[in-house]
Amino acid sequence: MSQPILFNFPKVLPLGQHLQEKLNAEEGRFILHPFPDGESYLRIESNVKGREILINASLFHPNSWILDLLFLVDTLRALGAKRIRLIAPYLSYMRQDKVFQNGEALTSKTFSHLLSAYFDALVTVDPHLHRYHCLSEIYTIPTTVLQAAPLISKWIHENVENPFLIGPDEESRQWVQQVAGDLPFIVLKKERNSQGHVNITWPSFEGAEGKTPVFVDDIISSGGTMLLAIEQAKAQGLKPPVIVTIHPIFANDSYKKLQAAGILKIVTCNSISHPSNEIDLVPLIVSALSA
Ligand code: R5P
Repeated sequence: MSQPILFNFPKVLPLGQHLQEKLNAEEGRFILHPFPDGESYLRIESNVKGREILINASLFHPNSWILDLLFLVDTLRALGAKRIRLIAPYLSYMRQDKVFQNGEALTSKTFSHLLSAYFDALVTVDPHLHRYHCLSEIYTIPTTVLQAAPLISKWIHENVENPFLIGPDEESRQWVQQVAGDLPFIVLKKERNSQGHVNITWPSFEGAEGKTPVFVDDIISSGGTMLLAIEQAKAQGLKPPVIVTIHPIFANDSYKKLQAAGILKIVTCNSISHPSNEIDLVPLIVSALSA
């Protein structure tokens, strides 16, 4: 690959500087500011004609960013950029993968149409593939899905004594299974009743005595799933758990609530910038882009 130009969007992304150095990329320069009426002004300062472009974008809170991101990619295209790839360590709008009630928007699909229309390729980390089996079911551009499991597994082996892995719901099974390797694990069952109340049931298990429970999930959003699972783990007499997640959304005060729930530690990957970031995804992304 010829030397790429890397645009970080927004400009200050913790992953950005690190990615730029490791990829030996040129920094993409642009000016973006709001007009008084709330519209955006954007100007690209780098010479991008015929160049390989990477846009490292945070799709966390996507509604605030998406239009400016499209202005950026469209302008790059107009200026003659060769190939424009999106690096989105956290791919949003993946959990609305089904029309549950008549009239609901299938936002995962609309969002995928939008990104597919503007970008040439997408690189992401552990998208929430639940009812979709692969991104090509909704994305029409080439996609590269990277998996954080080996990095998480390494972190657990190096930092947790006697780990016993727990997936808080069936959807987490794919991640817990991969992370566990030869470590013991169980997966809990989460059900929501008609009033929206969440109930978690535990399978019968043995061999957890004296072990450190490690909850593993792809996303913590409201924290509801994890808080309930932690509470039940405590009631079962398990030791204070370690919580590991790939995408730390931590909406509202969920991080504080989790910290106060009698846990040992919360550790996250840096797909979304957060003080709990301890597992670095940059080497994973760099190796995929350098392949
Ligand atoms: C899906 O079920 C995921 O694996 C997570 O368990 C879930 O999205 C977490 O959401 P929340 O933190 O809002 O309970």
